[in-house]
Order: sequence, then C-alpha cells, then structure tokens
Amino acid sequence: MSATPELGPVAYHRGEFVDARAAHLPLTTQGLHYGTGVFEGIRAHPLDSGDLAVFRLGDHLDRLLAGARLLRVDTGVTRELATEIVVELLRRNGFTADVYLRPLAYKLGLQPGTRPGVGLTGVSGALSIVVSRLGDYQPPAGLRCLISSWRRPARSAIPVRAKITGGYVNNALALDEARCAGFDDAILLDERGLVAEATTANVFVVRDGLLVTPPATGDRLPGITRDTVLTLAADLGIDRVEAELDSTDLLQAEEVFLTGTGCGVSPVIEVAGRPVGAGEPGPVGTALRETYDQTIRGRRPDTRGWLTTVALAEALR
Ligand SMILES: Cc1ncc(COP(=O)(O)O)c(C=O)c1O
Repeated sequence: MSATPELGPVAYHRGEFVDARAAHLPLTTQGLHYGTGVFEGIRAHPLDSGDLAVFRLGDHLDRLLAGARLLRVDTGVTRELATEIVVELLRRNGFTADVYLRPLAYKLGLQPGTRPGVGLTGVSGALSIVVSRLGDYQPPAGLRCLISSWRRPARSAIPVRAKITGGYVNNALALDEARCAGFDDAILLDERGLVAEATTANVFVVRDGLLVTPPATGDRLPGITRDTVLTLAADLGIDRVEAELDSTDLLQAEEVFLTGTGCGVSPVIEVAGRPVGAGEPGPVGTALRETYDQTIRGRRPDTRGWLTTVALAEALR
C-alpha cells in the first residue's frame, strides 16, 4: 500500500507550468478564507504499452468547469485547453505509475474598486493543477466504517454536484471522527437519516442479491466512479437499482463497497462494529472491482471513449 502521494515536479499554476514546490499564493487568497473553490480528483494509469491513460477526463473537467461557473471563478481555460494542459502536465512529470491529478479552481483576490466581503463578483479567479504518484492506498483486507454523527448538508445549503472546497469541512470532521474512533472511513447520513455517502466516495450495497446505490438526485455527489460501476454492472448482467438506503440496510447488507476516483471500488468489511456479510469482500463487489481495474487500465475495449491516452517520451516507456 503506497499511502503517501509523491508530488510531481511540475505543476500548472495560473497560466504556466512551474516548479511544483516553488509555486505559491498570496495570503489573501479568497478561496483559502471562504472555501470558494472547486476541485477534482482525476486518475491516470499506465497502459500495457507503457503510455498513460487518464480515466474519464472529459467528465471530470466538465464537473470542474461547471462548478467554477457556479462560483463565478474565471479559470481562463476552456474544456479543450484544460485537456491539453492535463496531457502536457502528465508528459512533463513523466510518471509511469498510477497518478492522481488535483485541479483546483479558486477565488483569488479583490479587483480594484470591489468592496471587501465574501461576494463572488469583483474577485479574480485562478486554476492550479498538481500531479502526484499515488497507488492503491486503502487497507487491502477492506474498510471498517463508522456511521458518522455528522450529517451531510442538504443541497439547499451547499450545491452537491460540484466538489466545493468549503463543503469539505463536513467530510473532514466525519473522517476525523472515524479515525479517532479507530475506523478507516465514515458513512454519512443526510438530514432525513438516509445514507448520503462516505467522506470521499459513494456507497453501494448488495441486498438480497440486488446491487443498490442511492439515487444521484439526493444530497450527495453523483460520482463518476458510481456511474462507471453502474454501467459495468449492466455489462456484467448484475441486477441493480437506485434506491434510498438507511442504516439498517448497511447493517443487514450481504456486501457494502465504496466507489470513488481515489479509492476505486473498495470493499467495506465492517460497519459500526458489525461484520458485513462474512466479514470479507463479497463476490459482486469483487467482480466489479476487477472489471473496473481492467477498464481504467485499458485491459477491456474502451467502447465508451473513457480513456485519454498520453504518449510518454520513448525513454520513459
Ligand atoms: C464527497 C464525495 N462523494 C463521492 C465521491 C466520488 O466521486 P468520483 O467517483 O467522481 O470520484 C467523491 C470523490 O470525488 C467525493 O469527494
């Protein structure tokens, strides 16, 4: 388990490629003070050819840029330019192992004549992207999850379709609570007491042989991995449904697993001190995990155009 990300040497920062360790921001950066930023987590993996493939780059960039528009952050890039920047950044960093990309679009500084405050107009925006080498960082035997005492804020309080930096204080408190209690992650309920999501992942259960995940329309991020897993489940002929879940569903499930760009498809072997099923990864989650891993590594035909190939320099391959 390579738990610590290794920061790549080159970052994209406010319009240029720079030394990632030397890049800096003013202490007055508004996104830092008010949480007015949006970010993405994107992964790229080595193909058997030695090149890298970014997984669902267009979908991640669409979510990032839609979130930036919501917060009136001027990133200075189009989707096309952002794609070129990501590809060039991966080439310049030259990682040949699993890679994690972290684009961050944020509010920067008050423009002349703007009154101070938490407003979104009259504030400049910026885009930075760092790249790290990051493999599978989850416990190989599976996750032990707490049901958090923190509730997921409603979409009427903070938009849920974007990864808004300020909103992650909720996720941070939930993960902190879980780790302090000796768990690996937390599953949060929404204000109705229904399952929302884990701290950085969506939740799936297998109940009476049926794969179930809460609908994308609730108070949760509609994850790209969630969508991928539902699509792959259909390919594999696995019966599936989008339906609300409560704590009892988690405690009585035959299988529970989490999905996210960072964690991939991660089995949960224990919820709130009770074993899930036999207390080990189950067959449905394992089949989906293997199919997902093959998909992101280009070992299945890319019929949906999910992979963006980055040709690395000959010397690196
Ligand atoms: C709160 C939250 N939910 C779900 C997810 C999973 O989303 P995705 O599969 O798009 O990475 C993430 C991670 O990005 C997240 O931060």
